[in-house]
Amino acid sequence: MALGVAGSNPVRRPLKIAIVGATGLVGRKILEVLEERLWKENPEIIPLASKRSEGKFVEFLGKKIEVIPIEYGIPNVDFAIFSAGSDVARTYAPLFVEKGAVVIDNSSAFRLDPNVPLVVPEVNPEEAFKHRGIISNPNCSTIQMVVFLKPLLSAFGIEEVFVATYQAVSGAGMRGIIALNEEEKGGIFDETPFPTRIYRNVIPQIGEFSEGYSTEEWKMIRETKKILKSDVKVYPTTVRVPVEIGHSEAITVILRSSPSLSDVYDVLEKQEGLKVLRDGFATPVDVEDKDFVVASRIRFSPENPRALSAWVVADNLRKGAATNAVQILQLLIGGLG
Ligand SMILES: NC(=O)c1ccc[n+]([C@@H]2O[C@H](COP(=O)([O-])OP(=O)(O)OC[C@H]3O[C@@H](n4cnc5c(N)ncnc54)[C@H](OP(=O)(O)O)[C@@H]3O)[C@@H](O)[C@H]2O)c1
Repeated sequence: MALGVAGSNPVRRPLKIAIVGATGLVGRKILEVLEERLWKENPEIIPLASKRSEGKFVEFLGKKIEVIPIEYGIPNVDFAIFSAGSDVARTYAPLFVEKGAVVIDNSSAFRLDPNVPLVVPEVNPEEAFKHRGIISNPNCSTIQMVVFLKPLLSAFGIEEVFVATYQAVSGAGMRGIIALNEEEKGGIFDETPFPTRIYRNVIPQIGEFSEGYSTEEWKMIRETKKILKSDVKVYPTTVRVPVEIGHSEAITVILRSSPSLSDVYDVLEKQEGLKVLRDGFATPVDVEDKDFVVASRIRFSPENPRALSAWVVADNLRKGAATNAVQILQLLIGGLG
């Protein structure tokens, strides 16, 4: 059966999917999520990485598949899911598109390009169908925040968002995890992605600073506006913490109206991909390997009836990256399933 995919040729069955960066933290998670969600499709997987991975294998549905360095050529595929950084995406994504593939990219390379949809399937699925070959996955911190903000924006309007993040070391890739583990053992990791020690520390810098804000903070400011199609003001402070998996966010939203807490619960509980805890709270450990975002500690400020605060957590490798990308692919081939 051939299914139409907006902006490209009809999709063949079985699907052929390239995973660029298949040996990385997100790449491996993509394989896992594809196994869980697309096993019935039995897709053909082509794992690609750098020359460093020549001779390595990954597993998919019980089969060992050899990883191919991307320099060796661009395969003919229906989809290419990229998780290999911005430089690799800029160099190779257009080559896949030329060959008729749809690219779903996890890097920041194309996120703010007006011709590239920036998609969170539970928030703006319609955008995915407007692609011209490339679709971007938003930044992990932005994804979990907009899943929480979207229903509030639609129901009550939002003026401003204050957010402090507590981001896991896996957000910086394999090197982030190695750095934490080495430092825990008393060593030093020369290739640490962090500007200072992360073990028993917290670091209020993710990326480079410009005009006082870090790259990660600018991503949250700009990507949120694009996804929500709103000029909502976002005031972020992004912080790396010595947690392996799972980003947490302390969010305060200044709403345009002052609903009751029960109205807020009603609205949030209807949001797809969001689990709401009326009692207690969720921590990064609770969301590890989960595909949904959890909001807890939801409360109005005693000082301002329009200031709503919450604690929002999600697995950065799953909903923040792999799951979101696979959900986009599922959207394009016909339903989130
Ligand atoms: N980690 C997260 O929570 C997260 C969340 C959202 C988005 N992302 C984005 O996802 C991407 C990957 O992140 P990650 O955490 O998986 O990083 P990672 O663990 O460091 O993995 C990087 C992957 O990219 C491949 N790669 C690097 N340079 C390459 C090159 N020149 N040619 C081909 N492949 C190359 C690596 O292959 P080798 O093994 O051969 O070096 C590896 O497979 C990044 O763009 C990141 O910003 C990550």
